[in-house]
This record gives sequence, structure tokens and C-alpha cells, in this order.
Amino acid sequence: MTPPAPTLEFGSTARTHWEFDSDLVFLNHGSFGAVPRDLQNRAIEVRREIERNPVEGVWRSGVRSIRRVAEEVAEFVGGHPDRTGFVTNATAAINAFLDSFPLEPGDEVLHLDHGYNAVWQTLLMVARRRGIVPRKVALAIPCRGASVVVETIMSACTKRTRLIVLDQITSPTALRLPVAEIVAAAKSLNIEVLVDGAHAPGMLDRPALEGDPAGWTGNLHKWPCAVRGCAVLCVRSDLAGQIKPPVISHSLDESYGAEFDWQGTFDPTPWLLAGEAIRFMDRFGGWNVVRERNHALAVRMQEMLCRRFGVDPISPLDGSMLGCMATIPFPDRLQLGVEGPPPEVMQAELLAKHRIEIPVMDFAGRRHLRISCHVYNDSLDYERLADAMDAMDAMGAMGAIEKRGAVG
Ligand SMILES: Cc1ncc(COP(=O)(O)O)c(C=O)c1O
Repeated sequence: MTPPAPTLEFGSTARTHWEFDSDLVFLNHGSFGAVPRDLQNRAIEVRREIERNPVEGVWRSGVRSIRRVAEEVAEFVGGHPDRTGFVTNATAAINAFLDSFPLEPGDEVLHLDHGYNAVWQTLLMVARRRGIVPRKVALAIPCRGASVVVETIMSACTKRTRLIVLDQITSPTALRLPVAEIVAAAKSLNIEVLVDGAHAPGMLDRPALEGDPAGWTGNLHKWPCAVRGCAVLCVRSDLAGQIKPPVISHSLDESYGAEFDWQGTFDPTPWLLAGEAIRFMDRFGGWNVVRERNHALAVRMQEMLCRRFGVDPISPLDGSMLGCMATIPFPDRLQLGVEGPPPEVMQAELLAKHRIEIPVMDFAGRRHLRISCHVYNDSLDYERLADAMDAMDAMGAMGAIEKRGAVG
């Protein structure tokens, strides 16, 4: 199908579709997404529609509509329609998968040190419940390329390794990992992979198709801008009867779809609107255009910020390990270690003094920030960030925040 002609420009024109404070530079789409005004209005309409007859809206036609939208989302992410089920978020999907995936006491489950902390905490809980052994694998940065990642992960596998929980886009470091290669290498050792693609929908083209992992999850409420509480879990055909949703309700063992489509009474609005969220990007020329544009912006802004900060990038400058985020080390003069303020102080300073919302975190002993690039951003946003970093006085920031008495 020919993509629709774009009707909107990127950057400040696109931004009018979101509700950001007029003086805010929003460089953190990655954390919790941002919902365009039109979709918020649709959510109000859908909720009103449901209330005209809640039994019809929540239950009868509600459940049928959820299945239809799940199939549409499956096509977008590259999952099989019969094995794609809604959950409220990627965390729920990972909890559900690890609850029902066959694991024996003593089985090792690997997770990278670039992984999302909540997933590691989940693994610690599964260890308590089921006696598995979670192991964190260290991946050094700068990361020179995909083959280093494959080598690092595969050389950490032992005879006891049963499962790898692998980020498709790492959370603190924003690296795109070579999922297909790792799934293939793991398969040759009889090791399964659960892909944590929390950031992947909207950032990558049909990300669930990379390799044929045991399970894959992705959020719709991050890059596709869906109403929050919208994610999917896809599983491989042989596991469809085994992997259960986070909540068991009426349809136990009926089918994967039926089990996921009804998980008890709740507000189905975010799921019902997932297809509309995906189609929202048609006005910018569709997802292929949006993805390529956002990726190109991330690659250019990684290069610009590294040059302005006088630092080396943590992944190749050609962008081969990026989606549409990039993590950049702070300039050396702001790397103050334990002598300096904690990351949240600097994050709060960037917001309070410069009105820039951006995550700041310590990783591998150095301070970093992570930029997000979506349709409403343009290069001026990152120039403003670079100027703010030039003006940053770390110890002054600590004093100012202490006086204000708040961090966050
Ligand atoms: C890699 C990764 N996994 C899981 C999550 C959790 O997503 P959610 O809070 O939507 O469950 C995140 C959130 O940023 C993430 O980056």
C-alpha cells in the first residue's frame, strides 16, 4: 500500500499535537511516552461510549473489539495474531512469562547489566519462588558493535543456562541489541530467549519478528504514544498453551487470545485505542517515515552532543546500535564521582533551571544522559541541552537544590 502523503511537519509543528508545557524541552519520551491530544480526546469518547451500556462496552462487544485490535497490533509488531495478547505493561508481561515458563530449581537465567532494573527484581522474586539462579552479565561500554554483544552473552552461558532475558533496546544505555543473532546462537545451545522489547514498537520495524524467541513483549504506550496501560506479549507456537496472562480469569486453557482478552474487570480504553494510536503517525507519512526520521535524528544528535561534550560515544557513531534514543556520557568536567551531586540532582537542575526533561543516570562508573527523539523534537532541542550542559555548575546545582529542598 502506498503510504499516505504526510500532512504534518516534524518538530515544532508536530508538537502542537501534544500538551507539553510551552517552555518545556521534552527529551524523555522513552520513560513513559506522551499521549497526543487527539488520542486523549478519543479516550474520553470511548469511556463515555462504554458507559452507555457498560455490560456491552466492557464485556460483549468490548472483548470482541479487544481481539480485533490485538490482531492489528500483532501485525504492527510482527507477532502472530493468535499468539499476541494485551497486558498493561512490559513489566506485567515479563512477570507473567516468568511465572509460567517451564523452569527447574538450579536453572540459570541470564540478564545483561544494561537491562531494566524492574526485570532484574522480577528475576530475584522468581528465584525465591522457583529456585532459579539469576545471573547478571556485564557488557562493557563503549560497545564496538553487535558481534561483541553476541560474544559476551554467549560466552557467559553455562550448562545450567536455560533462559536469557534480553533487552531489544537497553534501558539505561539505549543500545539496540542483535536479538536475531543471539536467539539463533542460544538455540544452538538449547537455551531460550525472552525478548524485553519494551521500547521496540515504533522504534523498530516489526520487532517481534527478530529471531523466533520463546517470548517477546513490547509497550504501545512508549513510542506509539498509546494511552498508558497498553503492551503486548507474543509467544512462540509451542508455548501458546503454557504461557498464561498475569491474571487468570474465566477462560483458562480456552486459547491464548481468550485468556489474555479478559483478565477481570478493568478499563479497556487503552487497549481499544491501540490501533488508533498506531494510525496516529499516518499524518507524518506513516511509521516507516517516522522511524527513519527519528533514528536519523538520534544518530546526528549523538554525534553533535559527543562533539559538544568532548566525549567518545558509547556505541558506533554510524548509529548501527541505535534506535531513536542515545545515551551520552557527561563531559569530563561534570564527572565528579562520589564528590559530586547524585544524578537526580543534576536531572532536577536541568528541569528547574533550563526546563529540560531528560533522564540522568550513572552507568559503569560514569554519569550519562539519555536523549529521546520523536516526531515533536528537532535539533534545536538538543542544542538547548548542549547549551544547558555548558552552563552547568554541578556543585552550584547541589546547593541550589538543597535550598529548594526537592529533587525529582
Ligand atoms: C527495557 C525495559 N523493560 C521494561 C520496561 C518497563 O516498562 P513498563 O513500565 O511499561 O512496564 C522498561 C521501561 O522503560 C524498559 O526500558
